[in-house]
Amino acid sequence: MSTPLTPILTAFWDDPKSWTLETYRRHGGYRALDKALGMEPADILTAVKDSSLRGRGGAGFPTGMKWSFMAPPDGGARYLVVNADESEPGTCKDTPLMMANPHVLIEGIIISSMAIGCEHAFVYIRGEIVHVYRRLMRAVEEAREAGLLGTDINGSGRSVDITVHAGAGAYICGEETALLDSLEGRRGQPRSKPPFPGAAGLYARPTSVNNVESIASVPGIILEGVDWFTGMGTEKSAGFGIFSLSGHVKNPGQFEAPLGITMRELIDLAGGLRDPDKELKFWTPGGSSTPIFTAEHLDVPLDFESVAAAGSMLGTRALQVFDETVCVVRAVDRWTDFYQHESCGKCTPCREGTWWLKQILGRIEHGQGTEEDFDKLLDICDNILGRSFCALGDGATSPITSSIQYFRDEYVAHLTHGGCPFDPAASTLWA
Ligand code: NAI
Ligand code: SF4
Repeated sequence: MSTPLTPILTAFWDDPKSWTLETYRRHGGYRALDKALGMEPADILTAVKDSSLRGRGGAGFPTGMKWSFMAPPDGGARYLVVNADESEPGTCKDTPLMMANPHVLIEGIIISSMAIGCEHAFVYIRGEIVHVYRRLMRAVEEAREAGLLGTDINGSGRSVDITVHAGAGAYICGEETALLDSLEGRRGQPRSKPPFPGAAGLYARPTSVNNVESIASVPGIILEGVDWFTGMGTEKSAGFGIFSLSGHVKNPGQFEAPLGITMRELIDLAGGLRDPDKELKFWTPGGSSTPIFTAEHLDVPLDFESVAAAGSMLGTRALQVFDETVCVVRAVDRWTDFYQHESCGKCTPCREGTWWLKQILGRIEHGQGTEEDFDKLLDICDNILGRSFCALGDGATSPITSSIQYFRDEYVAHLTHGGCPFDPAASTLWA
């Protein structure tokens, strides 16, 4: 099979000291900035809009459109905030990207800031991952020392600087408005939308909040052109993305490929299932907040539209693979534990609902459930979905409703068997 991989952001991750300015420059780094410095901000914005780049943080909102929705300049501050608070279970693309190639993000930030009229950008990073924080801080220093950041970049008269901010490790601070509250020094809880951050964001000023991978994709679009980018992927999901494979595959890791690649192709690229004698049982297309898929979905093109048409979401392309040794109830119980713990408590459906989901799933897994529990689970999910203040509540219901849809028999087996029918020792996942 010819490899469908398109190593762009991941191109030289294996180089020694891939994270230095010297290595980045050797691979053509900061040439896009040189080009952008000769462009009008409006032309940079138009290029990103025409590329149809869609947000790589999960929701897939068009990046150029988000920028163009910002309130018009009024002489006051405008901000770019990069959401590097990657926390969705299974999602692990932005962290290695910032570790291996922080300068592509910095170059993307400078160019994107110029497009939206921002002179001070922020990167909100997961505070627990101290090594990423240090790596990015060092790269920012390097760029500043080289005259690429700060006032009068390369003598162009344009100015952009970056503050790297470490959060305290709350999943909810990946929600853009909770992130902004946290950045302002408050407890991170979602704000009402509208107003969207483009109208009133950081310090109530026009702000664009964009994912790390989205911003890192901008230099390529500026340097290589819109046709280069739209030549990859599908009509409505243009370009490439980093697909993160984890779980029961031989070689888990990051696979950068055009949107529209299938899970079957990706599993092949990852060397197949870890144990070829076992069957694939279920997988997540975009992290645990997206409805699970099964072997019947292996040929669904992994683009925004096709995944939605098949009943899930492309999300963050966090492909967690589970073979037949895994108890789906146990996996869902673990994820629900996470949502219950991370619920910020602001709204009742999510705060109370995730707690009850956890209680019921726990008793099913431990053989103390009843037949009515399945309807109760679905009823609680129904009361959370669409009634929660932010996407966390909705996301918590996805693994539950989809696993009952595909594996109801396995839930029932927990009742008839008086507990989990799986031998935990047979699963290599939680060894
Ligand atoms: P959303 O669809 O509400 O918004 C997406 C973006 O578009 C936001 O920046 C929003 O401000 C903007 N937007 C939407 N409508 C707009 C309008 N009318 N005018 C101006 N701007 C508008 O989605 P949200 O809540 O930002 O993100 C949810 C997604 O995040 C989920 O789909 C999930 O996949 C993903 N996620 C990612 C995580 C990660 O670790 N990367 C963690 C958890 C969730
Ligand atoms: Fe907080 Fe959950 Fe409500 Fe979101 S849905 S505001 S995380 S309680």
